[in-house]
Amino acid sequence: MRILGIETSCDETGIAIYDDKCGLLSHQLYSQVALHADYGGVVPELASRDHVRKTIHLVKAALASANSSKNDIDAIAFTAGPGLVGALLVGACIGRSLAFAWGKPAIAVHHMEGHLLAPMLENEKPEFPFLALLVSGGHTLMVRVENIGEYTLLGESIDDAAGEAFDKTAKLLGLEYPGGPRLAKLAEKGSAERFIFPRPMTNKPGLDFSFSGLKTAAAVTIAREGNDQQTQADIARAFQDAVIDTIAIKCKRALKQTGLKTLVVAGGVSANKSLRDQLAKLMKKSGGKAFYPRNEFCTDNGAMIAYAGMQRFKAGHFEPLAIKARPRWPLDTLASITNRVICP
Ligand code: KG4
Ligand code: ZN
Repeated sequence: MRILGIETSCDETGIAIYDDKCGLLSHQLYSQVALHADYGGVVPELASRDHVRKTIHLVKAALASANSSKNDIDAIAFTAGPGLVGALLVGACIGRSLAFAWGKPAIAVHHMEGHLLAPMLENEKPEFPFLALLVSGGHTLMVRVENIGEYTLLGESIDDAAGEAFDKTAKLLGLEYPGGPRLAKLAEKGSAERFIFPRPMTNKPGLDFSFSGLKTAAAVTIAREGNDQQTQADIARAFQDAVIDTIAIKCKRALKQTGLKTLVVAGGVSANKSLRDQLAKLMKKSGGKAFYPRNEFCTDNGAMIAYAGMQRFKAGHFEPLAIKARPRWPLDTLASITNRVICP
């Protein structure tokens, strides 16, 4: 069985073909970074228009590189939400229409379920149940995962998502969009001692996060200390250390609370090397194991959507004919894949 996956929820057009026997056959990614760089962030209307320009070409390229034709594709999965409504609608329109034209089922995939399952694209896969930490540009979620579609939300950010905090702080430091990876690079040259930022919400019980105060801490420090190269690096370091320490403290708490030994970390920020190092130490101490997607599948991509689509396809979770995007779509409202739908 082969699934074509389409991801257009934000500023990346990702198309992939996943086969349940052979694995990932091809994946194509077009990043709109250059398009949005001048504006310092994603401009939703420009994002939608660029997805319109790129999606069909990338579908053709993915089919060609997988040596496949439309007849080899069993279903089409597209990201239906959450995300930017215009960007989602492009993927939903193209995905639903292609499925109709080809006479195949269409599958609406939840973007964060895609991220959550991305480590399953690797050879060594985590086993259920596990704890998932999803840290992207739009979400910071701590989730207990019993099975695909069986999610209990244990904690989330009450303000900025982790990636969003990275990007906003990077902007304050004068770094170009997307700032997260650039800030991480700059932090390598920074001192761990010069500035110490707070670890928000760690002295309260619970698993929620709050990152917007760290951006303010950075702004106040820049105003007081200036913005020369070394100060910039020191602020980047203080910010990154605070985010990562906070995440590690919450992961430790969540592992203890749930008794789980397996941690899955996904979403753009899971590419962060310091985060991986710190969580590796934590897992070593707690006798557990952490699983990540490979770096290119931490950020948005079509492969995770094709993979998640395959799991939904096997459970018969198909979309009706209507074209529907879900810009807000809570992860814990998804159906379990054990609820199989028998199709006529
Ligand atoms: O998952 P993703 O591609 O998009 C969303 O679903 O939001 O995540 C993108 C986010 C951006 O905020 C980006 O700055 C951040 O992930 N990011 C990083 C790193 N690589 C990407 N943040 C910190 N360190 C990194 N190495
Ligand atoms: Zn994402």
